[in-house]
Amino acid sequence: MSQPTRPLQKIVILTGAGLSAESGLGTFRDADGLWAQHRIEDVATPEGFARNLQLVHDFYNARRAQSAEAPPNPAHKALARLQQDFPGEVILVTQNVDGLHEKAGSQAIHMHGELARALCAQCDARWDAPMVMTPDTPCPNCGTPATRPDVVWFGEIPYHMDIILDHLQTCDLFAAIGTSGQVYPAAGFVEEARLAGAQTIELNLDATDVSRAFDAHRIGKASQIVPDWVDTLLG
Ligand code: APR
Repeated sequence: MSQPTRPLQKIVILTGAGLSAESGLGTFRDADGLWAQHRIEDVATPEGFARNLQLVHDFYNARRAQSAEAPPNPAHKALARLQQDFPGEVILVTQNVDGLHEKAGSQAIHMHGELARALCAQCDARWDAPMVMTPDTPCPNCGTPATRPDVVWFGEIPYHMDIILDHLQTCDLFAAIGTSGQVYPAAGFVEEARLAGAQTIELNLDATDVSRAFDAHRIGKASQIVPDWVDTLLG
């Protein structure tokens, strides 16, 4: 016997690199993605940073410059409209570090940090990152030249996990948009939401490793399927 559908009061939406693909930003794991061009171990781990600070800064400086130029696309704008017009709560949790949700007018929880922010590896101070960071950029708080982009690398714990888990455990609908479901803990959010009795939907260009965990699917380009889905939710 299927359970009756409960009213939608709280929606949690997880977004990934596919959401920003049509803004001109590369994804990670598609054929021409960032991880086909750069070694994760070199540019996205604390060990890689310790080995070659300049290489890591160069990688993130290029991504910061690209993100600063990138416009939000219709999918980001539709999610901003949903967050503004939905009568209940809409929580956006993003793995993206590009800042395009904010450019579109949304508020998002940045579980993998933000390119626009800098972090001191010595004292944990955070501040707005300059467009070009260098290994000798001093921390404005403690003065140590140990500053890094405020992004979460492999082997590090994503930010805001307590609050994200609280939201997943109290949501009525969970959606994952433009994420391959290959990186945990984000890939496990669908299971958390299911355990809480939420409906689940995946919106993506293709099926993913975790597609089977979702109740419903919309397949296509984010710029088309996300505005359509938002129209449905807003009735
Ligand atoms: N519309 C919808 N989905 C798309 C589009 C598009 N236009 N283009 C690509 N996609 C989908 C791909 O099919 C893929 O499933 O987006 C997904 C992108 O997957 P990844 O490149 O793995 O990106 P993501 O899931 O966000 O990566 C998670 O991995 O490397 C780390 O920290 C990095 O936050 C990142 C995390």
